[in-house]
Amino acid sequence: MKKEASKASINQVFFSESDINHDDLRQICSQKTFKEEYPLADSVENNVVIYNAINITPLTDNSNQEKRLKTELNHILEKGPGVFVIRNLFEDCEVIDQSNDIFEKIIKKEDNSKNDHFASGTNARIWNSLQKVALENPEVFINYYSNNVLRVVAESWCGPNFQMTAQVNVVKPGGEMQKPHRDYHLGFQENKEIQEYPISSQRMSQNLTLQGAVAHSEMPLESGPTMLLPHSHKYELGYLAWRNNVFQNFFCENAVQLPLKKGDGVFFNPALFHAAGTNSTKKIDRIANLLQISSVFGKTMEHIDYIKIIKNIYPALLEHQNNNTLSKKSITNVCICATDGYAFPTNLDYDTNAYSGIKGFSMFEITLQALEQSLDLDNFTSKLYEHQKIKFAS
Ligand SMILES: [Fe+2]
Repeated sequence: MKKEASKASINQVFFSESDINHDDLRQICSQKTFKEEYPLADSVENNVVIYNAINITPLTDNSNQEKRLKTELNHILEKGPGVFVIRNLFEDCEVIDQSNDIFEKIIKKEDNSKNDHFASGTNARIWNSLQKVALENPEVFINYYSNNVLRVVAESWCGPNFQMTAQVNVVKPGGEMQKPHRDYHLGFQENKEIQEYPISSQRMSQNLTLQGAVAHSEMPLESGPTMLLPHSHKYELGYLAWRNNVFQNFFCENAVQLPLKKGDGVFFNPALFHAAGTNSTKKIDRIANLLQISSVFGKTMEHIDYIKIIKNIYPALLEHQNNNTLSKKSITNVCICATDGYAFPTNLDYDTNAYSGIKGFSMFEITLQALEQSLDLDNFTSKLYEHQKIKFAS
């Protein structure tokens, strides 16, 4: 008798670029955003939900109301269009102007020829503006990050005890459009790396970060505010798709832009297809403080001193390699557990590999390189410390 095939088949979990389907993205992006689904919002424009901080700030005085607001925002980021704007996030623009003065000072102080990840042109970039502003002017930092609506927005996606990071991007007149892309984590990795992550991890990664931008200048359409493709975060294979020409063309034909006023904020799921637009004005410097907010769930429970571990076992590993008593695969397996395998977090002022690559080198890669070159412990240790010095410079 012929054996019946099991009805419980296992779905595909690993995908490559050849699996991406333009029609799937087109269908997902044909969804409409309805204002009725978001009673606390002011309006829906171009499929993007718009709130006014003046109307929603009073809700943060009451924990039930605050939860209602967080629920709406979370729905937008997961099941809805994936993006919302908060008008007047900073109603009093004095703190924005004070921040801009500090940014200008920092840009002058630094050799600011840093490039954008996804565009060429004459941008100015300040990495880690969070820390730099705190060191320059405690009162401005306190005033900026005491914002209640900002905290609620962050918690609506990442939950409590989130970790804030910020980077300033100044796009000068004539600054070119970015290539459409997705953001950190997997937006910073190449297709060959992405396809090693099961689709469940790819879905999970977008829950670990919320991407935002606060307008620090007026941003009329001609200055190139962020181009957004609402609902595109729901295309599961999107991390493998955004470099593809057909997908990029679809983005350029269907992306929307909303003019922003100084003090407005825009927040989106990091898996949403987006790109900074072209600044076609003659005199507006488009200034944004980009906020990257991380969930605490990306962290391990124990702090591990990988330097101590790898320094102690490296001579034995080298011996195993040289005597052929362990295979290359086995040595790699040990290194995965004995080193930090991720290039982030890092200091982006010094770790230029991290954004030219786009992904930088990790302790794991440095260890494998050292073994390949049969470096002795002293030489390996100095490479390790050189890498740590750059990564953790402050
Ligand atoms: Fe981006």
